[in-house]
Amino acid sequence: MLFAESVYKTRQGKVADAWKGLLGPQDLVLIHSGEAVQKPGGLDQTYDFLPHPSYFWLTGHRRDEGVMAYSVSEGWIEHQRPLSPVDIVWEGAEGNFECEHTLVDLQKKLQGGAYKRVFHLGQTSEKSFEAETRELSIKLDQVRRCKDSHEVQLIRQIAAMANKGYQALQNALRPGITERELQLHYENAVLMAGADKMPYGSIVGSGENAAILHAVPTKKKVVSGELVLVDAGADIEDYCVDITRVFAVDGKFTGQQKDVYDLVHDAYKASVALCRPGTQWRDVHMKSARVIAEGLQQWGIWKSSVDAALESGAISVFYPHGVGHLVGLKVRDTGNPENVNPQRYYGARLRVDLELKENYLITVEPGCYFARAFIEDNDLREKYKDHIQWSEAEKWKSFGGVRLEDDILITKGEAESLTNVVLK
Ligand code: GLY
Ligand code: MN
Ligand code: MN
Repeated sequence: MLFAESVYKTRQGKVADAWKGLLGPQDLVLIHSGEAVQKPGGLDQTYDFLPHPSYFWLTGHRRDEGVMAYSVSEGWIEHQRPLSPVDIVWEGAEGNFECEHTLVDLQKKLQGGAYKRVFHLGQTSEKSFEAETRELSIKLDQVRRCKDSHEVQLIRQIAAMANKGYQALQNALRPGITERELQLHYENAVLMAGADKMPYGSIVGSGENAAILHAVPTKKKVVSGELVLVDAGADIEDYCVDITRVFAVDGKFTGQQKDVYDLVHDAYKASVALCRPGTQWRDVHMKSARVIAEGLQQWGIWKSSVDAALESGAISVFYPHGVGHLVGLKVRDTGNPENVNPQRYYGARLRVDLELKENYLITVEPGCYFARAFIEDNDLREKYKDHIQWSEAEKWKSFGGVRLEDDILITKGEAESLTNVVLK
């Protein structure tokens, strides 16, 4: 297990407290780790199993088909599918552990009619979307969203592993190397430093590809004078970091590149300065968009005012995503419906729309991009013809883009970057 037994007991206690008043004496909550998924084609192989984060966070265990049960009268009881000797011969005993209660025990209890209501959380095929289930799930997420000191320490360690990757990539960066080779330098160093895996497909985009938000590294060679955007992390048992940096292929930005870099850095700093308990996340996004819009105004991109460029959503041509998302245990943490609001702010769909609280961990990742696909799009040209000076935007369409991203811990005082070991 990643953390001491006492850490999990504390977490379980906090969740039980959060559920007080929601559960009667004959209610049971089951939190499922999920089932292994067969690879297509009938081969006796499954995809790597990822336990549902709620189950993993409560138990520290990674076995498929695990069920953590909670009732007011019995407290927390974990149930496991026992491993047979045949399972062990095929799969090894890794991940096996002594578990007093089996799924058979659980099944017997359920069939015995001991419970009036059973709620299913975690990775479950039960389609129980009643208000009560949602409420329990939201409360659990709210507790889990606040990172404890053990998680913070682990995430700092993971950031140090990512830093090894960024150092290796920078050492390798020179004209003629491909995006894919840069990815391999990065990932090799991160894995050699002790990470289990990458938390998401590493993004390496050079030149115009830097404006592709989730650029898959290609065989394209990087060229002198270009920017390279790298958005890559590191992962230990699903805890992760999500970091973006931008480099000049020659080690030195051109004047124009430095202007955009500094603008995005200003948006980053203005956003982090707002990251305090009590701030609405949408206000952080809107601040970051305003800083970017003001920079674009200096470069003659707007026909209308900065306010009009923001209100109309025209800014989203150059800054098409939200300023960040919850991160920590997986790259999109605690993704409950409560924090997903389809409403757009200045044209961007935010992935999180809630008030910040102490110990939340959230990415701050403003960007400014000149995506050819947008600049050449006739529908967008028509839609924003009163706001965007398209003849000016045209001049930027081979520039690429800049994004800067760190994982920011909300504290009582100034927010703290857990990933600043990777230098900007
Ligand atoms: N790594 C993708 C993202 O920034 O969310
Ligand atoms: Mn991110
Ligand atoms: Mn990222």
